[in-house]
Amino acid sequence: MTYKDLSPSPRIIMTPGPVEADPRVLRAMSYPVLGQFDPEFTALMNETMEMLRQLFATANRWAYPVDGTSRAGIEAVLTGLIEPGDKVLVPIYGRFGHLLVEIARRCGAEIVTLEAEWGTVFDPEQIIAAVRLHRPKLVALVHGETSTGRLQPLEGIGAACRESGALLVVDAVATIGGVEVAADEWMIDAVIGGTQKCLSVPSGLAPVTYNDRAEAKLLRRKRIEQGLLAGGEASDAAAPVIQSNYLDLSQLQDYWSPARLNHHTEATSMLYALREGLRVTLQEGLPERFARHRRHEAALVAGIEAMGLRLYGDPRCKMPVVTCIEIPPGIDGESVRSMLLEQFGIEIASSFGPLKGRIWRIGTMGYSCSKRNVLLTLGALEAALLRHGFRLDAGAAVQAALDDYGA
Ligand SMILES: Cc1ncc(COP(=O)(O)O)c(C=O)c1O
Repeated sequence: MTYKDLSPSPRIIMTPGPVEADPRVLRAMSYPVLGQFDPEFTALMNETMEMLRQLFATANRWAYPVDGTSRAGIEAVLTGLIEPGDKVLVPIYGRFGHLLVEIARRCGAEIVTLEAEWGTVFDPEQIIAAVRLHRPKLVALVHGETSTGRLQPLEGIGAACRESGALLVVDAVATIGGVEVAADEWMIDAVIGGTQKCLSVPSGLAPVTYNDRAEAKLLRRKRIEQGLLAGGEASDAAAPVIQSNYLDLSQLQDYWSPARLNHHTEATSMLYALREGLRVTLQEGLPERFARHRRHEAALVAGIEAMGLRLYGDPRCKMPVVTCIEIPPGIDGESVRSMLLEQFGIEIASSFGPLKGRIWRIGTMGYSCSKRNVLLTLGALEAALLRHGFRLDAGAAVQAALDDYGA
């Protein structure tokens, strides 16, 4: 059997991730592999840490990528910071809040949840009141909930956590690089970002940052691998050892420190990709990048509304990088999505759980977030909807978006 050359079709990816990788990032991934202790490579690691600090708006010492997808970053942070029996508060307003519960439970946490109806978020005061009432050791919260397209305001929650001695962990997988995330100002103890969304780097790394409060907890649980100790002496942790070996931040940080203590083999080509994605992001400028995401969101929303479609969810907490649309009654949402992909090469997303089959989700993230992509997506969606018997004012969507762009 002979196989054809690999030649994936060019796509316009308008999902909430993964999105199109920046061509400069793809180019970086094709560069020659360097050894993981080569000084040329360790210099790139240090630059990546510096750039991650800027991205997370933090002065934290620790800001580096965990190898694995964003979920690996979440698991690394929670496995390191939750000791069996710790009380953990998780406010849930969509699928990824449930994921935090799932992971925290596997760490042996005693879980307390708060639930908000999908399509809404919490008033920060509700979370602050729950922190004061339950006095958890850790609060885990999603910043941008891609399943519902909602953005949770975080102001004030970090201060309340600090006051009551809790650590605050935030999943900023879908917002980092597209929406402001201010780790230090918002007093977040650990943040997890994603690569394949607003940074336009393929999935496979999970940038994380954590402060001294979080590090102190990790260090109490630290154990150095026996085979790495010079005298072969055992190193015992003061507190229950971190369950995961691969995702043990207390060991990973040693590789990212000048000690360069070996853990696993670094995914060097992925590191090139992240470094280049960060360079491109910071070169654009974070405020400018956030404004670009808002500009294209506005044009997209103008077009969607001109088509006579309804947006899903509370508009006051809409994520600027994800637009959720109610699938009109009588329209087969999956058939429309297939038509977009097969006839136009454009991918949009459906959603999960209770929203499966009820909404479409269009991402405007990173490299995919452009005027060209917004206009092409609106034109194609309009055509596909007409083909599915939905009555609309033909041409109005693209015209409304063009008006919004002032074209
Ligand atoms: C908010 C949020 N958290 C976590 C994840 C999990 O990320 P990954 O699929 O990269 O492991 C995603 C992925 O879509 C997400 O949107």
